[in-house]
Amino acid sequence: MDINKIREDFYQFKDNPNLAYLDNGASSLKPKQVIDKVDDYYKRLGVNVHRGVYRLSYEATDMYEEARTTIANFINAKFEEIVFTRGASQSLNLVAQSYGMDFINEGDEVITTELEHHSSHMPWFNVCKKKKATLKYIELDKEGRITVEAFKKVLSDKTKVVAITYVSNVMGYITPIKEIIKLAHEKGAIVTLDGAQAVPHMKIDVKELDCDFLSFSGHKMCGPTGIGVLYGKYDLLDKMDPIEFGGDMADTVRRDSQTYKVPPYKFETGTPIIAGAIGLAEACKYLDNIGFDNIVKQEKYLRDIAIKELEKIDGVIIYNKTAETGIISFNIEGIHPHDAASVFDNNDVCIRAGHHCAQLITTWLNTIGTIRASFYFYNREEDIDRFIKAVKEAKEFFGSF
Ligand SMILES: Cc1ncc(COP(=O)(O)O)c(C=O)c1O
Repeated sequence: MDINKIREDFYQFKDNPNLAYLDNGASSLKPKQVIDKVDDYYKRLGVNVHRGVYRLSYEATDMYEEARTTIANFINAKFEEIVFTRGASQSLNLVAQSYGMDFINEGDEVITTELEHHSSHMPWFNVCKKKKATLKYIELDKEGRITVEAFKKVLSDKTKVVAITYVSNVMGYITPIKEIIKLAHEKGAIVTLDGAQAVPHMKIDVKELDCDFLSFSGHKMCGPTGIGVLYGKYDLLDKMDPIEFGGDMADTVRRDSQTYKVPPYKFETGTPIIAGAIGLAEACKYLDNIGFDNIVKQEKYLRDIAIKELEKIDGVIIYNKTAETGIISFNIEGIHPHDAASVFDNNDVCIRAGHHCAQLITTWLNTIGTIRASFYFYNREEDIDRFIKAVKEAKEFFGSF
């Protein structure tokens, strides 16, 4: 993989070749192929889908629905199992609001973890509160990992839903999800998987995983902002009620009755996110072209170098030394993560500091927040050099107070 060639696809590196963009966990950069595709839709078409009886609208509809096919193929799903949403948060909420509100009853149990992003955990906290169900947490091991053994301890005949992350946005650990899904299914429970940090970084096959739902966002995987996906097994989507009503999702509407279209359309109310879906499909093609083997390899390569260098600096606390993905969470002893972040910015290094919308795990780590560096395939060794230089400067600068 020729990183320098790949970097030519990203305008930010042309404008600032020194930019060390290490905040990919928050959002990735977008290559020109994706921007051009979105641009093409707006310039040539820019009209609505599913409604217009003219050529421009037919073509826009074709592009929108072809995008669904591309994205379905990308994760080995069926066309009708791909619901377009605004992002992972909306997808995760849709499952809780629809499936959770209709199929969870008093006394049922929902299993989640302290590794969840707020968007994965909070919707189920709300469902459990409203439906008088019990929210149970898988006890994390001493590294903060989810283990199958700990899952078995909370799984019971009352378990109806497992709401769990595939890759933690703070710790970067990969959940042993296949075994968890198998065990959950043996109890008749469904598994809703937060794939926001997984789908951009590893090849996902929903059929092989056998997950019931998978949520992810376009903007973390080279796609536009404002588009996300909810994958759901068709029979589940079919029995779920929509949570938003109105244009495009209705089938027949009378004074005393209303019916809805079949999935995925019954969940896509109003004018859909046309440009977003088209852009996300282009992003999927772009990532497939780079190759997930290459993506995994580059992230691991950079991560290993960064960890080795961080370990040499006194006072650096790394929370996830053994993580499998390109996420490093750490702190510099005695320095607030937000203070440290300002020094990174002065060095053209983009990182994130804070609780990363995952307060359960920062509480578990007994800290107010962490500094997080998160890599993607377009990062290179020079980015790590700048990053390490910034860590040393932050330590020197704030350490002297
Ligand atoms: C693990 C995880 N889940 C869910 C989300 C929510 O994604 P979005 O803000 O795109 O809806 C994020 C975003 O950071 C995340 O990292």
